[in-house]
Amino acid sequence: MSLDEKLRKVLEKARDSSGLIVFLTGAGVSAESGIPTFRGEEGYWTQGSQVYRPEELARWSTLASDPELVWPWYLYRRSICRGADPNPAHKALACIEDALEDRFALITQNVDGLHLRAGNTLQRTWQIHGNIDYMRCSRACNPQLFAMPDIRGVGPGSSFDHAWKAQLSCPMCGSWARPHVLWFDESYDEENYRYHSSRQAAFDACLLIVAGTSGATNLPNMVAEICLSRGTPIIDINPQDNPFTSMARRSEGGWLQAPATEGLKWIEDALSG
Ligand code: OAD
Ligand code: ZN
Repeated sequence: MSLDEKLRKVLEKARDSSGLIVFLTGAGVSAESGIPTFRGEEGYWTQGSQVYRPEELARWSTLASDPELVWPWYLYRRSICRGADPNPAHKALACIEDALEDRFALITQNVDGLHLRAGNTLQRTWQIHGNIDYMRCSRACNPQLFAMPDIRGVGPGSSFDHAWKAQLSCPMCGSWARPHVLWFDESYDEENYRYHSSRQAAFDACLLIVAGTSGATNLPNMVAEICLSRGTPIIDINPQDNPFTSMARRSEGGWLQAPATEGLKWIEDALSG
């Protein structure tokens, strides 16, 4: 299988214009690196019903009341991310940024940092749900991000080890640190999650390419809706039908039914051809 003629023309038109090409990625892009998605069969949110209750753990209010419950789950998830490597989908996106430079923007919901490790730049990669490699003060006494300590051997269901406490505290005020991720009881902002930049990119885009996301969160949907309302073509790369598929079909673009590793490689070839 490969790109059909219609999608190839859409890509070539965008390539030959001077417009911004915006990519929007989700957990499906890292699935082939071995990181579980959220809502798939092995997903964090699906399995959560047996092992965890992620919708309760991933909350500021839970950290405030029971940090020793929240932290082991994040240390476990981070160890999975650190053990994974960028896959060909991440690498294709890094090559596309190299080629497009300021005509490239990447909005990612992934907190695993794999886009950056593959070579995408922080300047053009907006981690709208944060990055699990970092933490910050839970009381926001300062805006700085601190590297997450390298605590190993934390598995699903591990309990809190008091020896970790000092490493998981804000170095400025001594309060608990928190993972640098967006939680269910929080809202997007510009400072931490690039809310305005992402919306602006949607207004500026001449093409939106969505890959590996199920469309369950607010800002990604808004980005696609803005593009759709402005007549911007949308291409959705996903093996499964999802809400972005129908938006892509309603636009001048369409559905590229493929895993991200294949689909993004074809996109890279078409944009550099
Ligand atoms: P989901 O788990 O909801 O969706 C993953 C998507 O990836 C599905 O549509 C799958 O069909 C697709 N997929 C699976 N394997 C793929 C592959 N190899 N190539 C391409 N696509 C593949 O994950 P997200 O949409 O990323 O937010 O979830 C969005 C947000 O919901 C997460 O960032 C998280 C969660 O609540 C926060 O934690 C704030
Ligand atoms: Zn502090």
